[in-house]
Amino acid sequence: MSEKLQSINLNKIPNHIAVIMDGNGRWAKNKGMQRVFGHKNALTAVREAVAGASEIGSKFITLYAFSTENWKRPKLEVDTLMGLLISSLKKELPDFHKNGIKVNSIGALEQLPKKAQKVLQHVIDETSKNTKITLTFALSYGSREEIVNAIKNISKKVVNNEIDIKKIDEKIINNHLYTFNLPDVDLMIRTSGEQRISNFLLWQMAYAELYFTDVLWPDFRKDHLFDAILDYQNRERRFGKTSEQIDTNG
Ligand code: FPP
Repeated sequence: MSEKLQSINLNKIPNHIAVIMDGNGRWAKNKGMQRVFGHKNALTAVREAVAGASEIGSKFITLYAFSTENWKRPKLEVDTLMGLLISSLKKELPDFHKNGIKVNSIGALEQLPKKAQKVLQHVIDETSKNTKITLTFALSYGSREEIVNAIKNISKKVVNNEIDIKKIDEKIINNHLYTFNLPDVDLMIRTSGEQRISNFLLWQMAYAELYFTDVLWPDFRKDHLFDAILDYQNRERRFGKTSEQIDTNG
């Protein structure tokens, strides 16, 4: 067992971990290769992150796999990422079952190629009864777009008298986000040294702890995740209260 894993306090685990998997392009460039080589070598890191999160008992892990802005990348790169999504979902299905992984997705999924939509829906349906951990892929995802959509949908319901404007609260907004079935994020990890949120889960990260590491995503392994967890466990989450209130009320 990893020494780092042994140092983790299993009573203080982030329930929901979100990850911005950054640095694939630079990793490939460092090796004198094309950017897509980095994406192709990113899957081991995905497996390690999900396995590590599951091992410590986190119930949700959400991966930023493709942003709304990523459509602007060169066609070869977009096609490679979509191809990887399709092939890896197919290939991993038996392991999703073996490891109790329930697959979920958020984003403007209708913008994905039809084949990707089909495979994704198949894997989501097939794994819907798994209960160990929920693995959410953010695909064609942008947080501002998500919020705009939620506002449009709530407004329609107000116009149709399905929602009373006075009753609009955080819960109603939550229920109209792509993440309606997910809890708030507790810990957000971003690799590759960039310290930005990049339009990822803005609403859902309101009280998340943010952790940045210089490791490039293809090099990310379980022990890097455990480093992030140990760092998280050393922080005091106050949710706007004072330290003293946290000490007495938990
Ligand atoms: C960021 O690195 C990574 C992405 C835009 C895509 C993430 C995709 C994967 C990890 C591939 C596998 C995932 C699935 C779900 C099949 P970057 O390209 O922005 O790197 P750079 O900042 O060094 O250029």
